Amino acid sequence: MPVIAVVNRKGGSGKSTFAAHVAAWCARQGHAVMLGDLDRQQSSRTWLRQRPPELPAISPWTIDQRNVLRVPTGITHVVLDTPGGLQGFDLARVVMFADAIVIPVSPSLFDREAAAATHEELAALPRVAGGRCRVAGIGMRVDSRTRAGDALREWAQARNLPWLGTLRETQAYVRCLERGLTLFDLPAPQADIDLAQWGPVIDWLRPLLQPPPAADAPPVRATTPSRLAPSLAPRLQPAQESLAPGARLSSVLSGPRTLQPVVRSQPVARPSGLLFEERGLLLKR
Ligand SMILES: Nc1ncnc2c1ncn2[C@@H]1O[C@H](COP(=O)(O)OP(=O)(O)O)[C@@H](O)[C@H]1O
Ligand SMILES: [Mg+2]
Repeated sequence: MPVIAVVNRKGGSGKSTFAAHVAAWCARQGHAVMLGDLDRQQSSRTWLRQRPPELPAISPWTIDQRNVLRVPTGITHVVLDTPGGLQGFDLARVVMFADAIVIPVSPSLFDREAAAATHEELAALPRVAGGRCRVAGIGMRVDSRTRAGDALREWAQARNLPWLGTLRETQAYVRCLERGLTLFDLPAPQADIDLAQWGPVIDWLRPLLQPPPAADAPPVRATTPSRLAPSLAPRLQPAQESLAPGARLSSVLSGPRTLQPVVRSQPVARPSGLLFEERGLLLKR
C-alpha cells in the first residue's frame, strides 16, 4: 500500500493543502484513499468533514473503541498530513511507513531554512538514504509575477533535493479548502493554469500510486484500479507495501482535541509525540 507523507517543520508551509490535493487526486483515479491527519490541529480532518458527499470519497482514520487510530479496511492508498515541528523520533516514525515524502516550501528565508533542516534530517535516515523512501520538494504559494519560483528551484538544486516545481499563490486554494474541495474537484477550465502546475507532482508520484501491473499478473482495467480484489493488490505493489489495512497508528495529542491519548505500557507514549503500534502482523515493516 503506497504511503505518501507531507512533511515540513514549518507550520503554514502548505502541508495540509498539498496533502488534501494528493488525496483528492487519488480519489478521482478511483483509489480507496485515506487522508490521515497527524496534526494536533486536525486541519485535514476538519477539511474532510466539509467535503460534499457526492465527490469521490476520501476516508479519515477510523478510531476503535480504545481510541486507537486505524487504517480502515479496504484502503489501498494512504496520504499522511503531519504537524509543523515534526522531527527526531516522530519524524523517523513517519518515515518508517512512508514510501514518498514531499516537502512543501514557501519562498521566505524562514521557510527555506526549515525545509533545509527537514531535508537534512530526512536524508540521514536509512530508509531515505537507501532509496526506499523517496523525497522531493515543491514550491508553495509562489507569486508568479516574481522570480521566487526560479530562486526556489536553484535552492533545491544546490541542496540536491529533487524538485517538483511550484504551485502559485492563489485564493482558489483557500476557497476550495473552505468548502471541502480541491482544485481537482472543480470543473476543468476553472483551474487549468493551476492544475498544469500539478503535472510534475503527479508524474513523480504516479509510479508509486499507479504501479504498472507485474508481468505475471492478470490484466487489470485501468479505469478501476481501486476495485482490485484485496488479495491481488499486494502482488501488484510488492515493493511499496508498507502499512497494512487495519494497521494501528496512535496519536498522542495534547491540548484541545477530539482524540484521547492512548495510554499503553509498550511502546512508551511520549508527551506530544506520535505512537505507532507495531505488534503482531498488523504492520509489514
Ligand atoms: N498556493 C496557495 N495559494 C494561496 N494560499 C495557499 C496556498 N497554499 C496554501 N495556502 C494557504 O496557506 C495557509 C497555510 O496552508 P496549510 O496547508 O494549512 O499549511 P500547513 O499545513 O503547513 O500549516 C492556508 O490558509 C492555506 O489555505
Ligand atoms: Mg496543516
